[in-house]
Amino acid sequence: MSSQTNTKHKVTVRRLAEMKQAKEKIVCLTAYDASFAQVLEKTGVDVVLVGDSLGMVIQGEETTLPVSVEDMLYHTRCVAKGLKNALLVTDMPFLSFTSEEEAVLNAGLFMKQGGAHMVKLEGGIDQIDTVTALNKNGIPVCAHLGLQPQYVHKIGGYRVQGREADAAQKMLDDALALQNAGADLMLLECVPASLASKITEALDIPVIGIGAGADCDGQILVLYDILDISLGIRPKFSKNFMASASGIEDAIQQYVTAVKNLDFPAVEHVFS
Ligand code: KIV
Repeated sequence: MSSQTNTKHKVTVRRLAEMKQAKEKIVCLTAYDASFAQVLEKTGVDVVLVGDSLGMVIQGEETTLPVSVEDMLYHTRCVAKGLKNALLVTDMPFLSFTSEEEAVLNAGLFMKQGGAHMVKLEGGIDQIDTVTALNKNGIPVCAHLGLQPQYVHKIGGYRVQGREADAAQKMLDDALALQNAGADLMLLECVPASLASKITEALDIPVIGIGAGADCDGQILVLYDILDISLGIRPKFSKNFMASASGIEDAIQQYVTAVKNLDFPAVEHVFS
């Protein structure tokens, strides 16, 4: 597949809402540096996440917990240099939003010094006050439900969330509450496809899935997983796009096209 030059306009919160309405799939991917960011930009990725997955794929840690605000700020700055139109989202790392004041301060750093357009934070109903405070201060928020890697020691491993009826209902309730508190985007990780579909239908804001089935408004994966260079085993919900690609840019372009054309995720990437 040949590379394409991206000629689109800036992706904004409003544009993402329009894409949901128009049933146009939102393509998201993680990045951690300027060089990869410019390839994502060129291939038409809509949303670029500086994920705290950088703790695992860049720093070689076993979990995301050691990642600091300084790490996130550094990588956000790097990624911002490579982007032009894509929306840049930065993860709030573990224990960087223990109070509303701390959340606003750190999210403010990512936006003012890093160039982020939005922050992402893990947590359900417990984070309502924080999301409200961020919203009140003009900071766009992506809420993150389902598998929340920062809670890995609380939940005892990385596993699919929301399979039981009460957990599924709680996730739906949390999603609605986060939206009402002002969240602009929702990320669902490792959630049964039927539940993700229900939440996507129930919410007005766009829902981005990772291991959450094909009915979400968009998809996200970890860049190094699709390039098959992550340490350890590639998760079931991901796909090695390098396998049939002529190079890195082609692999990323294939991912973008597959999401836009509803070819990814396929049945083997989905949880029931
Ligand atoms: O940190 C990250 O890369 C993430 C993805 C799993 C979406 O949150």
